[in-house]
Amino acid sequence: MSEHSSHQENQNISWQSSNISRQERWELLGLSGMTIWLTGLSGSGKSTIAFALENVLISQHRAACVLDGDNLRYGINEDLGFSASDRIENNRRTAQISLLIANAGLIVIVPKISPFQTGREHARNIHTEAEIPFYEVFIDTPIEVCESRDPKGLYKKARKGLIKGFTGIDDPYEPPENPDLVIRSEQGQLPDHVMELMKLIEGL
Ligand code: ADX
Repeated sequence: MSEHSSHQENQNISWQSSNISRQERWELLGLSGMTIWLTGLSGSGKSTIAFALENVLISQHRAACVLDGDNLRYGINEDLGFSASDRIENNRRTAQISLLIANAGLIVIVPKISPFQTGREHARNIHTEAEIPFYEVFIDTPIEVCESRDPKGLYKKARKGLIKGFTGIDDPYEPPENPDLVIRSEQGQLPDHVMELMKLIEGL
């Protein structure tokens, strides 16, 4: 990444450039960074698909990693909850981290509810600005299916009122308007979904 164009208000900092260009680094190391952003409801299958995709990529000796929304909440985002403003900040940090890692050359897979259109647009915009590929993938699983799966028992808790502001129950989810790919997790099998993502990555 070159000159930083964000709305940085602190005038006393300056962008420090690497001695080697991204293109040279990627070529020398055989890398091709990008971000695959998987959005959808809790229980939609995002993480399952993300880790299956990571498996396939790594087995092909391709540098990839998963930045899972849940997992980030154990560390970098541990100070954030589920209010709208916290989710926005959570999304912003996750987008910035994925950009840094994709810039280093990895295929970054981000399974994250990311309920707001503007947040996902922000993620796309910062990648586009940096000329790093970004794909928004909608894991389009109906809420009835997510709720019947309820892998973490959270829908049950939300219905009982034990969790307030649960996405899809009493908190909003804005479906993508123009995703690069839609995956219907209840149709087809996991390998089919991974294949669809592989095609996206290969630009087929
Ligand atoms: S996001 O909305 O900020 O993008 P993120 O993907 O990081 O969400 O985390 C969602 C995970 O947090 C869910 O998979 C679920 O396990 C857990 N969770 C706990 N409380 C909530 C809530 N109120 N709404 C949605 N998910 C919740």
